[in-house]
Amino acid sequence: MLKKLRLERFKNFKEAELILGSLTLLVGTNASGKSNIRDAFRFLHGISRNYNLAEIFGEKWIEGGVLQWRGIRGGTREVTFQGQSTFALEVSLPIGEKDSQQEATYRIEVNPGTSSKAATVIAERLLIAGEKDSVFEAAHSEQGQNNLSVKLNGVLLSDPTQTFTDDRPIVAQMAAFGSAVAPWAMTASSVRGAAQAVMKALSSVRFLDLSPDAMRLPSLPGQTILGDRGENLSSVLQKICETRESKQALLQWVQELTPMDAMDFEFPADFTGKILLTLIEENGQKTSAISASDGTLRFLAMIATLLGSEAAQFYFFEELDNGIHPSRLHLLLQLIERQVSQETIQIVATTHSPELLRLLGTQSLEYASLTYRLSDRPDAQIKRIVDIPEARRVIHEQDLARLHESGWLEDAVNFTEDEDTIE
Ligand SMILES: Nc1ncnc2c1ncn2[C@@H]1O[C@H](COP(=O)(O)OP(=O)(O)O)[C@@H](O)[C@H]1O
Ligand SMILES: [Mg+2]
Repeated sequence: MLKKLRLERFKNFKEAELILGSLTLLVGTNASGKSNIRDAFRFLHGISRNYNLAEIFGEKWIEGGVLQWRGIRGGTREVTFQGQSTFALEVSLPIGEKDSQQEATYRIEVNPGTSSKAATVIAERLLIAGEKDSVFEAAHSEQGQNNLSVKLNGVLLSDPTQTFTDDRPIVAQMAAFGSAVAPWAMTASSVRGAAQAVMKALSSVRFLDLSPDAMRLPSLPGQTILGDRGENLSSVLQKICETRESKQALLQWVQELTPMDAMDFEFPADFTGKILLTLIEENGQKTSAISASDGTLRFLAMIATLLGSEAAQFYFFEELDNGIHPSRLHLLLQLIERQVSQETIQIVATTHSPELLRLLGTQSLEYASLTYRLSDRPDAQIKRIVDIPEARRVIHEQDLARLHESGWLEDAVNFTEDEDTIE
């Protein structure tokens, strides 16, 4: 489970930290930075895909012209806060086996380059809590070539440029650190293990920004991973329906979450072999994905994500409540809170729904965070809602949803932080 994300000079954040729980709800006005936080997670996830920096920011195409990765919104030009020269991201996570886990902090600072110069790693480090030396530490001066210095467990590597390049994250290179560097064999294997653990934690990450149009596209049986926009929904659901219990669970949730009396699913194929989800109601009425409502498709995609056999460890859901009737939100939240309570799935979700805040369980409320901009500052901040002075009392006594609607949260942070600056 990821514990903390720190952003420095990244998009509209100059310096901000997000504490992560099993479910972390992000609320905040438009353009307060919620999706910028998603972009930060996307960058970190891109590292785990073994891409070089240009591929992480841009796009990654594989053979046959298939687009495998969409890059980071805004590319390299708009990634640093107000055009500063570098940004840094830091993530805290436990590594190692379950009973001997250690808290690790991985940090990367990147210069996104210019139109004539590729992006480079400026500094990178993996530190295990309580240890004096970093597992590895790499540094690079902004100018000059070939001046990468790398330390393993505190010891300087004599010629790191033989082994490492600055155009791709060092952690990915460490994870593939071979035994070729003979004098370092012992160190290499422990460094490699730790780097692989970080890569693994960052790899099982998915982003869902559901688009009903994408969910309505037919897909081929066997395409069992849901795309970021909900692509492959039909074949993902078909796979779930192969197991009787999963199919029952799926039907039950559809019945509860939508007004449909869904009794069964069918997956008719077109002449190319692609299938399309069709819901069958009790009265025999058939509704294909093409005419199913946006809300129904969203529910199906979320249930498929949470119940599917190929679940990831970490999900970032964009605008969770979008297209969903307020009266069904508590059921969706119930499904999510139940799934994350098993601690195998962690979810960060952005929302505009004040209703969702009101419905949060005690545990999830601890981690709900507000992204906001103070009126006299250019950068955005992140704060846990329960850390806003008086918030606990006010939430307890009043309706959090009403407070959210009236902008109380934003007013409260503006007011208290103004006082801070006067002191
Ligand atoms: N490099 C940057 N420097 C400063 N501000 C930025 C930068 N990139 C994006 N922004 C700000 O971030 C805002 C978008 O934030 P976003 O995360 O998409 O908002 P939302 O909370 O609605 O998801 C933009 O309106 C812009 O003001
Ligand atoms: Mg957004």
